[in-house]
Amino acid sequence: MLKTKRLDLVGFDVKYAKDFFELWSDFEVIKYTFTPLLTTIDECINLIEQQIIRTNKDFMDRFVILLNNKAIGMIGCICMDKENLVYGLYYQISRVHWGCGYASEAASVIVQYVLKEYPNAIFKAEAVSENPASAAVLKKIGLKQTYIERNGFKRNNFELDLIHYSNV
Ligand SMILES: CC(C)(COP(=O)(O)OP(=O)(O)OC[C@H]1O[C@@H](n2cnc3c(N)ncnc32)[C@H](O)[C@@H]1OP(=O)(O)O)[C@@H](O)C(=O)NCCC(=O)NCCS
Repeated sequence: MLKTKRLDLVGFDVKYAKDFFELWSDFEVIKYTFTPLLTTIDECINLIEQQIIRTNKDFMDRFVILLNNKAIGMIGCICMDKENLVYGLYYQISRVHWGCGYASEAASVIVQYVLKEYPNAIFKAEAVSENPASAAVLKKIGLKQTYIERNGFKRNNFELDLIHYSNV
């Protein structure tokens, strides 16, 4: 478990299904991610169970973001290349909590957590061109734009440029 000034970062658990249904049934939250848009709580439980299965057991790599014990989002820092210590960062915050600095706060603590274990870790992340809030979070934690992948993000019937970020 990780802690910030206002947030607790804990492992996935089906007890947060109601909160995650709020998050994952909101198209505005998932539209620039690869999370499916959910319509039932059973789908949500299923997706949480998948997150539990995928969580790295040796070094926790994805967290539920809790504010006063309510799950307001998720954040992950997944090892993409073990040999070169490359970590991919992603996050989602429920819409009613946007703009309060929670994503930046959680991202900052997760970067510190990975660096403590792997001081030479390389962080990578992507933000869709129409997602300035996500780009702002990445910049706030010190990542810089590396390149733009034209039409790199495809979802349903739209394609958007994908801006890649890294700390190196
Ligand atoms: C991206 C997201 C996680 C940001 O969460 P958040 O908690 O609102 O982010 P923060 O409050 O930490 O804001 C970060 C910065 O973004 C800026 N920002 C927010 N909306 C913005 C916008 N539309 N344009 C430009 N900057 C914006 C904020 O001003 C803030 O910078 P500041 O602290 O210097 O003022 C949230 O919008 C979200 O969940 N979006 C849907 C999921 C998603 O797109 N995830 C990213 C892809 S993996």
